[in-house]
Amino acid sequence: MPIEAPQSREELIEKGRNALEKSMLELIDLEKMPSHVALIMDGNGRWARKRHMPRIFGHRKGMETVREILKAARDIGIEFITLYAFSAENWSRPRAEVSALMHLLQDYLKQEIDELDETNVKMLTIGNTSKLPGYARNELESAKMRLNKNDGQKLILALNYGGRAEITMMAQRIATLAAKKEIKPAQITEEMISENLYTAGTPDPDLMIRTSGEFRISNFLLWQLAYSEILITDTLWPDFNRAEFFSSIAKYQKRDRRYGGVKKES
Ligand code: FPP
Repeated sequence: MPIEAPQSREELIEKGRNALEKSMLELIDLEKMPSHVALIMDGNGRWARKRHMPRIFGHRKGMETVREILKAARDIGIEFITLYAFSAENWSRPRAEVSALMHLLQDYLKQEIDELDETNVKMLTIGNTSKLPGYARNELESAKMRLNKNDGQKLILALNYGGRAEITMMAQRIATLAAKKEIKPAQITEEMISENLYTAGTPDPDLMIRTSGEFRISNFLLWQLAYSEILITDTLWPDFNRAEFFSSIAKYQKRDRRYGGVKKES
């Protein structure tokens, strides 16, 4: 079930910031919205390098894009948004960059918490957040607690997330149940697997968008993306904007989702 878009399509188009955004909004059918969109926000480093600036400058600009895209998603009533903010592999980046990314997360939460609360956003995390530095973890926990009562958009931050680690954790949990004879191996179902992943209770993404042109899923939502539509754009994440987000949704709506079956006759 999509959340209700706060304004009608006509109002949205009327308020569109520019001609491009308005024309993209005209292509969207608000009745056929994806319920969950996942994003691999790639290209911050290249965006900075093109400007002869340090990588963190790109991450900072990327944070502004996060703000803009979450608002755009709320405006058109997308209920679940998952952002790949920090992968389990990102620890191998230079220490200064890792630390800058963690401080950026803290800054983002501090700056955005009021607006997120006022707009009824609930925040969830996937990944092993216990390994984040204390200052980032504390900010995250207090934001999640404050937003817990909300029932509008669900913002899911993937932090220290890796799809293989998630599947390993699930296997350990289910194997423990089997070892304790609480279940028999033959009773393991796809539903049981889904319920033992970080994303338990969240529908699988309908659409996954990756910016900056790489054709990889980079250990992101390995189980959950099984039937998702995938859209790859050459745009670097800091340059991704509302108009391109709306155009991605319109492209998704033109896709023919078959889930391995045959084409539906219309
Ligand atoms: C990938 O770009 C991006 C990241 C590893 C970090 C994503 C973080 C943000 C967008 C900012 C903060 C987000 C939140 C939710 C507060 P890259 O550095 O790999 O780019 P490159 O491939 O061009 O080097």
